Amino acid sequence: MTQDELKQRVAQEALKHVVEDAVVGVGSGSTVNFFIDALAAIKGRIDGAVAASEASAERLRKHGIRVFDLNSVSELPVYVDGADEVTEHLAMIKGGGGALTREKIVAAVAERFVCICDASKLVGVLGKFPLPVEVIPMARSYVGRELLKLGGQPVLRENVTTDNGNLIIDCHGLSIIDPPALEAKLNQIAGVVTNGLFAQRSADLLLLAEPGGVRTLRARAVERSSVGHRPVLS
Ligand code: A5P
Repeated sequence: MTQDELKQRVAQEALKHVVEDAVVGVGSGSTVNFFIDALAAIKGRIDGAVAASEASAERLRKHGIRVFDLNSVSELPVYVDGADEVTEHLAMIKGGGGALTREKIVAAVAERFVCICDASKLVGVLGKFPLPVEVIPMARSYVGRELLKLGGQPVLRENVTTDNGNLIIDCHGLSIIDPPALEAKLNQIAGVVTNGLFAQRSADLLLLAEPGGVRTLRARAVERSSVGHRPVLS
């Protein structure tokens, strides 16, 4: 089974967690693209979507799925997104596609974060994948120096401007033993918009596509947040 087939399979599985007659939060990346394509088949059963990137918004619209501005949505029962690395505690590194800030905002609003990945994304310790940090352009050099002090090797992502008009620094060489603490520390650096650690608000549910099927890993609090909602495909 190819990696794309695994992504497609987990994207299909995620439909079971989409809530009927509600707006669904949609992340970005290649796995999410498969999810958007799968979502098109049930578009009549949802109100629409909020997208974490311009690219996802465009793909949703092409499928005829209504895209809402996050500010006009008061309830977001579920957010579906991929990850670049994820631990069994459901902390993640995200932002390989550069959409980390909007992803973190939509994830913060959502009651339940469903992470969809193929098995290659599961790691024991986060940090082999370079940690993306979104920075205000004038702070680029300063933030780079601060990342060096923390033991990382910062590399500016060439020719990339985020949907928010900022830059991305990819921080190599970190072994992230305490993800929530590092997430908070990096966000304290002046000029950092956000960083790609999703540990303070980690996923609630991980759907992991393996050759033998899709495995579900749950965070402890997940059942609490699902009360009162009816999944589309239940
Ligand atoms: C986008 O900025 C990322 O956070 C994606 O969620 C992450 O890079 C996973 O992407 P793939 O599904 O393409 O691996």
